[in-house]
Order: sequence, then C-alpha cells, then structure tokens
Amino acid sequence: MPSTDQTATASALPESRPGREWWRSAVIYQVYPRSFADADGDGIGDLPGITRRLPALKTLGVDAVWLSPFQTSPQRDAGYDVADYEDVDPLFGTLADFDTMLATAHALGLRVIIDLVPNHTSSDHAWFQAALAAGPGSPERERYMFREGKGSDGSVPPNNWESIFGGPAWNRVVEADGTLGQWYLHLFDSSQPDLNWENPWVWEQFRGILRFWLDRGVDGFRVDVAHGMVKAPGLPDYTPPEHGGSMGGGVPLEPEIGGHASVEPPTPPYWAQDGVHEIYRDWHKVLEQYEGDRVLCGEAWVEPLEKLARWVRPDEMQQTFNFGYLETPWDADALRHVIDRSISVFGSVGAPSTWVLSNHDVVRHATRLALTGENLQGHGIGPKTTGLPDPAFALNRARAATALMLALPGSSYLYQGEELGLPEAIDLPDSARQDPTWFRTDGERYGRDGCRVPIPWESGAPSFGFGPSAESWLPQPASWAAYARDVQQGVPGSTLTMYQDALAARAAHDLAFGTLDWFDLGEDVLAFRNGNVTVVANLGEAPVAAPAGEVLVSSGPLVDGTIPQDVTVWVANV
Ligand code: GLC
Repeated sequence: MPSTDQTATASALPESRPGREWWRSAVIYQVYPRSFADADGDGIGDLPGITRRLPALKTLGVDAVWLSPFQTSPQRDAGYDVADYEDVDPLFGTLADFDTMLATAHALGLRVIIDLVPNHTSSDHAWFQAALAAGPGSPERERYMFREGKGSDGSVPPNNWESIFGGPAWNRVVEADGTLGQWYLHLFDSSQPDLNWENPWVWEQFRGILRFWLDRGVDGFRVDVAHGMVKAPGLPDYTPPEHGGSMGGGVPLEPEIGGHASVEPPTPPYWAQDGVHEIYRDWHKVLEQYEGDRVLCGEAWVEPLEKLARWVRPDEMQQTFNFGYLETPWDADALRHVIDRSISVFGSVGAPSTWVLSNHDVVRHATRLALTGENLQGHGIGPKTTGLPDPAFALNRARAATALMLALPGSSYLYQGEELGLPEAIDLPDSARQDPTWFRTDGERYGRDGCRVPIPWESGAPSFGFGPSAESWLPQPASWAAYARDVQQGVPGSTLTMYQDALAARAAHDLAFGTLDWFDLGEDVLAFRNGNVTVVANLGEAPVAAPAGEVLVSSGPLVDGTIPQDVTVWVANV
C-alpha cells in the first residue's frame, strides 16, 4: 500500500476550501466495476481495468468517480452482499490493485468515493456464520435481527414485512441440533441479513471499516440503503400502499412529483427512522479527523424532500441522492417544481442539491424518459414490456434531460455508459439474467440487469473492447457497436461530445455555484439564466426561438434558429 504521503505527493486534486468544497460542485461518475472494463478477460470488469480506463474519464471531464462494491462477496446481489469489508474480491483484483487505481485517479485529479453497505452483510460474512453457530440468545446473534417466529411452533414469520426484491423479508434457520429455529430479517435477498444497529458492537465495527478505507486515501463513501439500518421498536406489521414498489420500499413518490404535494406519506417501520441520524453524526466525526474534505453521500429513498434534507444537515452527510428528481417525468411543470424545491430545501440546511438520472438500479434514462407504461423503480423492463419507445426519440430526450441537469447548480451524478447514450438492454435472454429480483419474483419483475450490461469502448473489438476476450457476464446487444466510445470520441454531435462540451462549459462558467433565474417561454419550455449562461429546454412539440448569443451546448441540432422538441441549448449571454 502506498503511504498516505506518497499518494499526497502524486496527487493533482483540485483545491477544496470552505464554502467551495469539491463535493459542492462535483460531477461524480458511477463506475459499476463488473461492467466497466475487464483487464483479465474473464468477462467481469476489474480494478486493473478501471485503472487503465481512468484517463478516458479525465478526458470526459468529470471530477470524481464512485465505485459500486468490489469488496469480498459471493456476488448474490452483485457485490451488495459483502463478506469482508476490508478486502477486495478476487474477481476484481487485490488491495494492491485498489491502491494503484486510487493513486492513478488522484494523479489525474479525480477523487474516488467507494460504496459502503452497512444495512446488511452477506450471509457468508464471518459475523453471520458465527451468529448461526452460536445459537439463540448469544452475543453473536445480537449483531443481526434474529427473532422467534409466531404461532405455537414458531413457524409464522415475526411480522408481515416483504423483501424489496419480492417475497418475505424473513428466513428461518436450522439450529445446530437440526431443528427449525429463529428467523432473521433480510430487507433484501435472504443472503443479505440485516445488521442490528441497536448494538454498539456494530457501530464500532463500522467506525473501523471507515478508517480502514480513509487511511488508504478514499475521498468518501456512498452509503447504501442510508434510509434503512434502524427499524421501528417492536418491528410492527406494515403493508406498503399499492404501487409502492420502489426501492423506497413502499414510499410512493407520485404525490410529490405529480401533484406537488409536500405531505409526508406514512413512514414504513424499516425506513427513515430517526435513529439513523445518530449513526451519520458519529461517522461525520470520524471523517472530520481526516484532511481533504472526505464525504458521505446517502442512498436514501426518502420523501418528501423536506424530510430527505435531514440526511444532509451540517453534522451528518455532505450529500444525498435526489431520487425525487430522477423519478420526475419529462414534464416542464413537474421538473421546474422539483428543481426549485430541491435547491431551496437542500439550501436550507447548507447542502448542495444533487441531481441524478441513471444508476445501476433504474432503467437507463435513454429509455426510461420515453416509456409510456408504468415502471416502478427496480422492476425493470424486458422483452414482454409494452409501451417501449423508439430508441432515437428516447435518446434525443435523454440528451436534452442531461443537458438540463448539467446546467443546474450543485453536484451531479452520471452512470457509466450514459455518456455514450446507452439505452436499457431489453432483449436479454431469461437464462442470462442474474438480478435476485428476477428469481425472487419468478420472473414477474425483470429487475436491473438491463442497465448493468458491460459498456462498449471499441466498436470493432471482441466484447466491444470491454475486455481482451469476447466474454461478457451479461450479453452485449450487437447494436451497441454504434455506441462505442471510439466511434463517438471527437465526433461533432455525438452523445459523448455533448457530455464533454457540457462538462467543460459547466466548469468554465461555474454553473455549479450559480443561481437560477427562470423566465417564461411558454408552457412546455424550461428557460433560465444561470450566471452568464441562458438555458432553454423545449419539452413541447412547437419549436422555440433560440436565444441570441454563442451556442455553448446543444443536445441536438437547431432548425432554422429554433429549438425543436426535446432539445436543450446553452447560450452565452450577449
Ligand atoms: C441499494 C443498491 C442496490 C442493492 C441494494 C441492497 O439500493 O443500490 O443495488 O441491491 O441496495 O444492498
């Protein structure tokens, strides 16, 4: 492991100072390690692959990368089932590979955030194996959520909670003497037992895990299921409202997004309990002991935004994902509303607003924004889905949405492949699917594999340059040759060029620290000034006259000086 000193010497990280901390303005690129770049040719991406491709991310113009889990794991939920928090899974390489990747990123001026999964471990984790072996009433069982079943023989689960991936959230164990015994809670797959965050021992372990990675030099953590961890006392029964199938586990996002209501929906007893904030205050103090503005970014599916803002109070996390924005349909009124509220609500606690359109859990926005049917988060789409859009129409819309997002003040998250305009992979064969959602619902929900397909780098190479062989853990659609990075790099009008142009102009005009000044160009149009840049997004069918001035970014061609439907332009003010 390189010493912290060596890393610091080689670092080209830009300045971060009070009020202008790097995370207030950063564009953070999500790397999904299994699908980004494969150095050894086994069909699964790895850390050496990431290291080799980091220069491409520097060229793109992002400020930081966030890596989904690469730690030791049986991979039953693609690494979100961690069996050793302080080591690298051999699939992805070694700790030395991690250190090389981190040092390379820092030398390029890119910060690195890693995923931390504290709500649950893998059932293969030594802590869980010890809990099974030690039996009921033991301190080892107290690290997880073990309970007796109901009924005379304990055969009824302790409550009615359902797993986010479908099916019951409880699993019954066979005790050492061969009899059926206690049940353990798993809000996700049965291979992901929930930890008991009422237990100080668990707190101490996670402080140690944070320090392990902070000592290696990571710039922060994306905290998985940051609205979970603490459960309501007594674990009361709970039935989510109908259509509450999002990763929010029953929190319907529609009222806020469609109807502009800011009424708090009922809080499920397993999400957004007040106790989680104590954990983040504790972690905040751990991070504070390190130089360099280390961050916590919460994956919290919480609404309304007023409530979500509690995750980013000054002594808690620095950022939280804005899933209300991600789930807002392509509608001018709804977008303006969520943008204004985000800026005001996050601003009220001194936090930057964040923006995100895609990640490894949702249908890629180059498909999603033009779907006509209902699409609950995490349920996915596949060959039998109806209401699928024309890919070219959907890509235009996605580009317009990205150009809108990157003009907003605050910090934005990008998901690997969106800069290539990748659509969701819809026609994956059933036999290739790997998301536990698919198995736990007997194929009723396709799940998230369609957004996780390895990305194309070179159109003419095996696996489109994902790796040196033709192997790819999920099959890549043949049509993806046209999306490969090498056929887009430097090509005017390509999606990649649009992302590069937008990221460069965003930085040059300091848009992340700007303020929005809306003006009216009609019902289906979003128009605002952010500092010396005017941004117009046309969501309607009627063309809109483009503002005068130099065009900095255009998500699609202008037609006779007008902005057509689903095009966003940035113009330097005259
Ligand atoms: C988060 C992750 C998702 C994972 C789940 C359980 O929502 O983003 O991929 O399946 O947590 O860890």
